[in-house]
Amino acid sequence: MSDAFVDTVVEQFPTTVLWRQCRDVAPLNNALAAIIRGLRESEPNAAPGTSTRGGYQTDTNFLYREDPAVRALQQLIYQGVQAYLPRYFQSNLLTAPKSVESRLWGWAVIMQPGDYNMPHVHPDAHVSGVYYVEVPELSPVEADEEEPGGSLVFFDPRSNAAMFHLKGRGQTQSYLPIAGALVAFPSYHMHAVYPYRSPGERISVAFNARLTLK
Ligand SMILES: [Fe+2]
Repeated sequence: MSDAFVDTVVEQFPTTVLWRQCRDVAPLNNALAAIIRGLRESEPNAAPGTSTRGGYQTDTNFLYREDPAVRALQQLIYQGVQAYLPRYFQSNLLTAPKSVESRLWGWAVIMQPGDYNMPHVHPDAHVSGVYYVEVPELSPVEADEEEPGGSLVFFDPRSNAAMFHLKGRGQTQSYLPIAGALVAFPSYHMHAVYPYRSPGERISVAFNARLTLK
């Protein structure tokens, strides 16, 4: 081994995403799906004016509804955010905070074939994410696509990298969710959901956490 060089390689301004698969959540997901479908019948649709095109969206107090399944989901999301925060701090802060308070809020979304989410960020929050309650099976045509409908698509947040054309450079990174998946990411991370074409409804709960650090 040569000792002619001393190399130090660092990752500058990394963008950190947590993808957590929750186990044994089928009963919870069934209960949540029934609640959210019920709200679609009884509560106004909050989707107009947001990044959601088509579909149904609850208000942003969904996680504070008095229901055991919703409380369990709130706990699941809280635990996911707590697991994510150390890596998020590592990627975004020069020094780790001494104490962290987080305020959480969320809303449920039902999408049908053709519905989608425009590219957007989540203002007023620091950590954002989504939990997937119900995800339809992909149609055989979609299954062969690189970024099938229903994929959660993240855009390269390094805006200056747009000038950089090199074969193989990915401008997006996408995840195809399954039920019970929880994703957490920095709220500034631009993302979208492509319209899916499979029959069936797709139910998710999006969330935000606003942090106060000391
Ligand atoms: Fe979002």
